[in-house]
Amino acid sequence: MDDTLSAQGSSKHVPVLLEATMAYLHPENGGLFLDGTFGGGGHTRAMLESSPEVCVVAIDQDPEAEERALALKKLYGDRFSFHSTNFADMGDLEEQSFDGILFDFGLSSFQLDEGERGFSFRFDAPLDMRMNNREGITASEFLESASEADLIRAIRNYGEERSWRKVIAAILGARGKGILGRTKSFADLIESVIPRRAGFKERIHPATRTFQGVRIAINNELESIEAGLEEGFRRLKVNGVMVAISFHSLEDRIVKRFFRKLSGRPEHRKDDRFQEEREILGSMIETKAVKAKEDEIRENTRSRSARMRGIKKLIEGVAS
Ligand SMILES: C[S@@+](CC[C@H](N)C(=O)[O-])C[C@H]1O[C@@H](n2cnc3c(N)ncnc32)[C@H](O)[C@@H]1O
Repeated sequence: MDDTLSAQGSSKHVPVLLEATMAYLHPENGGLFLDGTFGGGGHTRAMLESSPEVCVVAIDQDPEAEERALALKKLYGDRFSFHSTNFADMGDLEEQSFDGILFDFGLSSFQLDEGERGFSFRFDAPLDMRMNNREGITASEFLESASEADLIRAIRNYGEERSWRKVIAAILGARGKGILGRTKSFADLIESVIPRRAGFKERIHPATRTFQGVRIAINNELESIEAGLEEGFRRLKVNGVMVAISFHSLEDRIVKRFFRKLSGRPEHRKDDRFQEEREILGSMIETKAVKAKEDEIRENTRSRSARMRGIKKLIEGVAS
């Protein structure tokens, strides 16, 4: 589960696994880097600071990230540019190839801490949850109109909510009554069908998983990650490194399988293709995901669920 939500509290945005990311990307050697998830610009700034020979192209689909990017533009001028777009659409970028690419998926603490965005039930606000709130449908509109199959995909598959049947029955029964319009009334609805458990689990609100699932569904998060990784690797120079930081198992599984495929390894247990059928386009920096150490977790709860993986491009080609 995504700790950004389960933590229930949030602090100012601190980039996760910053040292580890820099150790994989080596911006101190200079070059052109892509930050696919600008957020508060923590990783971008560290790259720009590491050498005057570094340029960063940053992407974020959140219109508010663009405002934060202006501050960096003032500081770093032509060494920094920002594109307000989905990383799945990076095909539109004019820069063709990068020495390093970073994706730090999920939500920024700016998004979580601004109640009006509707990501968190810590605040009573319209149930919006769109990372790009200039387009698409809100979470509330989704809950009012989605087919049962789409609700199952969101709440069972993406939210990994075991009591998904109860939650979906409650959603269907609440349609047209205004309950699905706000974070608080929606969270209360879920709590009415999945009561809080005593003990350790008390910390986690019963609505946490459903909120995560609905957010992933309305933002098409997993499809974007698949497309972004593919396009990112295509735009990586030979010897360049791509790093991806995930916050829950669904994201990490996509990254792990893609990196395994690129490095000529079986993508999953049922992948029984012969070795000769596999092309080796990259090499995983480490086979295991890098996790935050205890002291980082103490400073920044968000880092607890972070899993970082990196791949180095060996040759040009398209993963088959
Ligand atoms: C965890 S934050 C990144 C934080 C950043 N690394 C920092 O140090 O400040 C993730 C950011 O990625 C953005 N994002 C998530 N999915 C995206 C997508 N498909 N396209 C573009 N931006 C996306 C979110 O809007 C959010 O601002």
